[in-house]
Amino acid sequence: MITSIELGDFLSHSNTKLEFEDGVTVFVGDNGAGKSSIIDAITFALFGQHTRKSNKGLIKRGTNQGFAKVGFSVNSKQFEAVRKIDNKGTLAAKFAEVIGDDRIEIAAGERKQFGESMTHEVERVIGLDFEKLKIASIVQQGELNTIINAKPKEFKELLNAIIGIDKLDIASEAMKTVNKKFREKIKENVGYDDTHIEFLLRDLEKYEKEIEESKPQKDQLELKQEKLKNEVDDLRGKIETETPKIDKIKQIELRKKELLSYAKEAIREIQREINENERKIQDCEGCFEHIELRLDLESKVQKVEDAIKDTVKKIQEMTNQITSLKEKQLLASKLQLVNNKCPVCDSNVEKLNPLFQEAHLRQEILELQKQIVSKEKENDMYNQKRKEFSIKLQNARDAEATLRAHSINNKEELIKIQKDTEIKKQKIH
Ligand SMILES: Nc1ncnc2c1ncn2[C@@H]1O[C@H](COP(=O)(O)OP(=O)(O)OP(=O)(O)O)[C@@H](O)[C@H]1O
Ligand SMILES: [Mg+2]
Repeated sequence: MITSIELGDFLSHSNTKLEFEDGVTVFVGDNGAGKSSIIDAITFALFGQHTRKSNKGLIKRGTNQGFAKVGFSVNSKQFEAVRKIDNKGTLAAKFAEVIGDDRIEIAAGERKQFGESMTHEVERVIGLDFEKLKIASIVQQGELNTIINAKPKEFKELLNAIIGIDKLDIASEAMKTVNKKFREKIKENVGYDDTHIEFLLRDLEKYEKEIEESKPQKDQLELKQEKLKNEVDDLRGKIETETPKIDKIKQIELRKKELLSYAKEAIREIQREINENERKIQDCEGCFEHIELRLDLESKVQKVEDAIKDTVKKIQEMTNQITSLKEKQLLASKLQLVNNKCPVCDSNVEKLNPLFQEAHLRQEILELQKQIVSKEKENDMYNQKRKEFSIKLQNARDAEATLRAHSINNKEELIKIQKDTEIKKQKIH
């Protein structure tokens, strides 16, 4: 919005200062009063453009220089644009933001080669260039009559020339596509577009009715919710008091587990000892009976061995005797009495010494052979006995070795182990 205009020796104005309020300002004046000059001052200050023939023609006749200054606001910010021209044709321009009494310069001059373009900055701030401003806001001198008198077609063409209405047609066409796309986008984003408004309103009404109808149910549910909330609070309280107990139980269970595993280990150990003792008892139980017989068996074995020796010796003696008797028998067969005379010395002999009698010797050999057979039987019997006693003696020695291996010295010790085993079995229970 334009807020002020100042013209100094500009066209027919020597020194004109105008302040504008909100709303519409109307200039009324005779021909040549200087109304159009104000429009020229505005466009010259902003864009350096005007309707006069030349820049120099802007300077009030009879003066050397003139200026036009425009104050305006955009988005609550205040700006000021001023341009000066002197009779040599020199132009000076300045565009600034107004903050209080200060002027913060935005651009100055139009020396494009130095990157200066005040017009460009003004266009950027107000969002319009001179051409657009002309179309949007300025009806040039004489055009108004043409507008009023124009026929519809011409009127449209004129408006088109003034404000570019054909662009509105194009825009309207373009808007159809924009509308279509916008509708599609809305539908994509929210699932509906403006064509659904009617049935959405129906649905809305329906749902509002449903909401209204379900109010009692909602109240009931709220009551229930309140009740449940209280219950939850109660339960929370309980959890708070119960949690330490649960922790304690967990600790106890852990301890129980430890104790159980300790007990199991202890039982396993005792069971192992029991098994060992039972094996010991089983191994050693019968050993003492064997051991008790050992001395007796040793003496028996000794006796039997003595007897065997004796028998063998006797058999040997008798065998020797038989050999000797057989020699005598051979001799006796040659010593036969002939008419009771000795065959050697021819002396009279009543009868022969039995030692030289063949029959007697035969008898004796037979006797001895019988005795040998009997002794051999005896010897077999002793050998049998010796075998029997030796086995028993070996058993006794094995038993002794077993006891020694188990470090058992006497029956009492074994009984003690048995009792100990019983106690251990009780202990397991
Ligand atoms: N350089 C100048 N120095 C002094 N006066 C000038 C200069 N150029 C034009 N004028 C005068 O300015 C007046 C034109 O002013 P302007 O065009 O603003 O009038 P107006 O109010 O718009 O009139 P109209 O109602 O006819 O449109 C004329 O009287 C003209 O003689
Ligand atoms: Mg005029």
